[in-house]
Formats: sequence, C-alpha cells, structure tokens
Amino acid sequence: MNVRLQDRTRHFRTVAFNPARNAVQLIDQRLLPHRFAVVSTRDFRETARAIRDMTVRGAPAIAATAAYGLAQGARAFPGLSLKPFQRHLDLVEHTLAHARPTAVDPLNAMRNVRAAMAAARTVEEQQELALSAAEDFADASVEECRQIGRHGAPLIRAGARVLTHCNAGWLACVDIGTATAPLYAAQAQGRRFHVYCDETRPRCQGALLTAWELAQQGIPHEVIADNAAGHLMQRGEIDLIIVGSDRVLGRTGDIANKIGTYTKAVLAHRHGIPFYVAIPFSTIDWRLHSGRDIPIEERDEEEVLGTWGVITRPGERPAATARRVYVRTANPGSGARNPGFDVTPAELITGIITPLGLFKPRELWARRRQLGHE
Ligand code: MRU
Repeated sequence: MNVRLQDRTRHFRTVAFNPARNAVQLIDQRLLPHRFAVVSTRDFRETARAIRDMTVRGAPAIAATAAYGLAQGARAFPGLSLKPFQRHLDLVEHTLAHARPTAVDPLNAMRNVRAAMAAARTVEEQQELALSAAEDFADASVEECRQIGRHGAPLIRAGARVLTHCNAGWLACVDIGTATAPLYAAQAQGRRFHVYCDETRPRCQGALLTAWELAQQGIPHEVIADNAAGHLMQRGEIDLIIVGSDRVLGRTGDIANKIGTYTKAVLAHRHGIPFYVAIPFSTIDWRLHSGRDIPIEERDEEEVLGTWGVITRPGERPAATARRVYVRTANPGSGARNPGFDVTPAELITGIITPLGLFKPRELWARRRQLGHE
C-alpha cells in the first residue's frame, strides 16, 4: 500500500523480511497515525513479543509475521543435526503460536511453512525452504486480498454508506486488506462512497488505523464512537457492513472478530442491513465444531481503564513531534474486564467474501475442498 511520507509516496508491506540480517521488518502500528516507523526484530522471541504487544496486529499480518518468525528461528539454528533442529523448530513454533490465541491464521501459516520444510533432508535445505515458504505465504496472502477485492467490489454501490469495525485493512494484512479490499477495488472502479469507522475501543484500531489508511487512500470517511452505530442504523444511514475475522469456523460459519463485532451484527440483523465478513483462506479453522470453543484473548485491564494518544488541544492538529502518552480515564482504583474478541454466529452473517467469491456461512463446509481444506 502506498504511504505518503512528507512529500514522497512509497509502497510498503506491513510485514517483510530482511534475509541478510535475518530480521522481520514491521510497520510499528502502536505509533500510528501520529508517527510512521518500520522496526526490525532480531530473533524469534522478539518477533513473538512484537505480535503480543501489537507492534503488528490483524490476523493475516500476524500470520505472515509468524511464518517469517519461524523461518527466522530456523535460520538462526547453528547445528547440522536434524533431531535437535526439529526440537528447536517446535520451540519456535510454540512461542510464536502462543503470542496471541484467537486468530487461527498464524497456526495455519506456520503449518504451511513446516509442511514445505518437510520436503528437504538437511538442516540447510530446510532453512532455505522455510524462508521461501514464508515468502510464498506472504505473496499468496496479498493475492487473496486482491481477489477478495474483486469479488466484494460489486457490493459497494455508488453513494453507499459502509460501516467497518476495527482495522481489517492493509495494516492488518501484508497488503490491501480484507474488509477494505472491496472498498479499494470499488474506488479504483471510479465509485464514490462513504465509510464509517467504528472507533473500536479499547485499542481504537478504527479511529487510529482504519481512518489513517482511508485518509492515505483518499476515501471519504468519518470515525464514530462505537455506541453510535445503532443510532445510524436505526436512522437508515448505513447500507452495508464489512468486517474482517480472526477465525471462521469452516464447519459452522461462526466467526470471531474484534470485540464489538457481535453487537454490530445483532443490530444489523434488527435493521435488515447486510453484514459481510471478508477473509483469506488462512482465517478458516476446519477443526473446531463450535464458536464457543474459539479461544478468546483476555487483554490487560489498562487498555480499558485508559487510552493512548498524543497531547494536543481539542480541534488542533498535533505537532509531528508530539509524544505518545497513556492517559488514565477510568475511576482510580476500579478494575476492568477486557475480552479482545467475540463470536458472531453464522445466522447473523449475510455472506463470507473469500478469494473464490461470496459464500453463505453455512456453505463453507460443502465447499471445503475448493477453499483449501486438506
Ligand atoms: O486485536 P487486533 O487489532 O489484532 O484485531 C484485529 C481484528 O479483529 C481484525 O478485524 C481481524 O484480525 C481481521 S484483519 C484482516
């Protein structure tokens, strides 16, 4: 995706790899939209930390990060014996897999990398295959997002008012995005429309990241407080909702996504508004039988009890050098509960936008061979 930095426009992927340094390179999403910086992780533990602390976030983006992290860990192994190498790989995979529990994409991505490595006999060959498999995963993820855009674009009519939750844009992927892909494709086809970005408390991915992405792309948009969505739906001011997902159950069509997605889906159902979920193949979990079995990440209570931002006066543009600070907003001494995700049942979902086209949530299982189930 193109980013305007001072006077220049440059193309960036959210996640990349530097083979000479054996480093994973990440756009530091904790700093956006106030500062743009790319950071490098030097080993797989640092890569896992970057996933945990949300330097990088969004299911397909942490999947590519985990795939590169696995290659990074494999390439750092000094010996030539296969057995200790396999034990080392298990540790690397385990560390990366447990950085964040809800998204299935990192598990699927690392499974791909390990399957590709199994074709080689020596440690050296496996190290090479690990990196090429991680690169293949990242490239395929970009192409899948492009196809999601192609299939989803007809849903965005001229003048449409679209609501999205959290950030399922290019920052959440390697490039292009899932929920944003149909928007970018519709824009490229010359249609004008308006996007409402749910603020998405407590981390505010909508207000910080989606709004920044859409501004970079020149798409008209406004941030709304999470609580405003029902009001706009009731007044007929939202025509369509598109969100991403961290895990879609191939057996049932239930989906996990950022906390608050379920609320929006219930409201959309109440008001007869189409509710779509856009996903690449890596987001499908073919194993679990029920949405209740999806592990839901519980995050630090500080996220709910306060907020991060830069210091400025209301109505003023913050200075480029403004320092990022944490501000306590809740009652001192009160605690908080902070589930990061919720599960939206299949019956509330109009359609799943995949790289192969649109499906009803309950159609996924019947189409499993096409959709990549082995
Ligand atoms: O906690 P986050 O910011 O990683 O949550 C991200 C989301 O919930 C996205 O909607 C999801 O990962 C899909 S991204 C294409």
